[in-house]
Amino acid sequence: MKVIRVKNQEEGAQMAFTLLKEKIAAGAKTLGLATGSTPLAFYQKIADSDLDFSEMRSINLDEYLGLAADNPQSYHYFMEKNVFIHKPFKESFLPDGRAEDIDAEISRYNRLLEQYPIDFQILGLGQNGHIGFNEPGTSFDSQTHLVDLTQETIQANARFFADQSEVPHQALSMGIASIMSAKTLVLMAYGQQKAEAAAKMINGPVTEELPASILQRHADAFVILDEVAASLL
Ligand code: GLP
Repeated sequence: MKVIRVKNQEEGAQMAFTLLKEKIAAGAKTLGLATGSTPLAFYQKIADSDLDFSEMRSINLDEYLGLAADNPQSYHYFMEKNVFIHKPFKESFLPDGRAEDIDAEISRYNRLLEQYPIDFQILGLGQNGHIGFNEPGTSFDSQTHLVDLTQETIQANARFFADQSEVPHQALSMGIASIMSAKTLVLMAYGQQKAEAAAKMINGPVTEELPASILQRHADAFVILDEVAASLL
């Protein structure tokens, strides 16, 4: 795991963007994408760039259960607005939060991940150390699955909704094994509220209680932290 300290989110976004360009030049064809406020500056760099994704694929980490793609709180909507409208891919995949048959949807997603192995995976970090929506206690062997969100995650994500009562309590997420099979991982974390999880991820034991700690075992993982997020290292 390579830890890269940067001054702020803007510098972190530039770093992640440089890594992305290098990996695309080296042949990366499938990008694993994440939502949340963390990757926004990075997505802005992509939108402003001359990168062309029309021969590439994207696969997203997760989606809330019950939200349709046109719901402004859905991750589908987030991706459309922040990335796909500016840089369309040949094909883009997200879990379908409105699927009638959840088991079939999970199988579809796992098949996709087998068919199109992820070359470059972007990750954020939950305050409790989650990656994707893999909450503490999730098996390191997990593939795509249905997740019961913790109260902590519901609260942390409530800022994107009009009211906390509107935050879905479940989500579909790629599992930890799915994430670990990506060739390159780039995790970004910014701000004080990520400092404790970042320190445990980097210096703590590799444990399912802190899902992101598994990155210590990945052969090509980059962790980009701003000064405050790195303050407890
Ligand atoms: C959500 C997402 C994660 C994301 C995390 C952190 O729980 N499922 O993929 O990394 O939030 O979000 P933020 O970047 O807004 O702090």
